[in-house]
Amino acid sequence: MIMNKNIFYVILGTLLISTSICKAESINLPQADTSSELMKIINARKSGRTYSNKPISKQELSNVLWAAFGSNSHGTRTIPTARNKQNLRIFVIYENKVWEYDGKNNILNKYSDTDLMPYLASQDFVKDAPVHIIYVGDKKYGEVHSGSAYENVSLYAAANGLSSVVRGLIDRDGLHKALELNDDEVVTYHQTLAYPQE
Ligand SMILES: Cc1cc2nc3c(=O)[nH]c(=O)nc-3n(C[C@H](O)[C@H](O)[C@H](O)COP(=O)(O)O)c2cc1C
Repeated sequence: MIMNKNIFYVILGTLLISTSICKAESINLPQADTSSELMKIINARKSGRTYSNKPISKQELSNVLWAAFGSNSHGTRTIPTARNKQNLRIFVIYENKVWEYDGKNNILNKYSDTDLMPYLASQDFVKDAPVHIIYVGDKKYGEVHSGSAYENVSLYAAANGLSSVVRGLIDRDGLHKALELNDDEVVTYHQTLAYPQE
């Protein structure tokens, strides 16, 4: 009996697909070499939620903010930004005032006296941190730009005996209003910075 041509091709296709699914390939990777300083810091990074009240010095703050979004030696920023727009905003609560970081000029500009803690402190440990960083970006890339910046801060913290946690449990609408942001801007994340409790 001669098999219908269409049925033949359906059976052949099904056989080829099932064979390729069954033949899952894998590569057994060699152990990652974590002996370099960078790899040790990546390994040490962790979220910390118990803080001492030891103040953070202006030098330490400058270092942290540079890691987050400072100007590098090639004329861009310490994080990549889409189309090199460099459009991440960083607000900092430090010594009970709200500041905005100007990474090009390495300045903290006073932004407001408003108490932003009610919008941040949904978890008790938050109020113990002497420094709070609030990331604000555009709707399309704000999340990824913030992620790059908060990871740099986390790595700096891991390398320098500081404690930090990224937080999404914040009142974004409240912060948006309190910071008088425009409609194209989104509050993405909050990050604490402190010395850990001994
Ligand atoms: C986008 C994002 C949001 C997070 N939000 C919170 C938060 O609101 N509160 C909190 O305590 N931890 C928060 N975390 C921290 C995670 O809980 C933490 O990264 C996770 O438990 C893994 O622990 P590790 O960071 O020590 O590896 C958040 C982390 C990310 C990346």
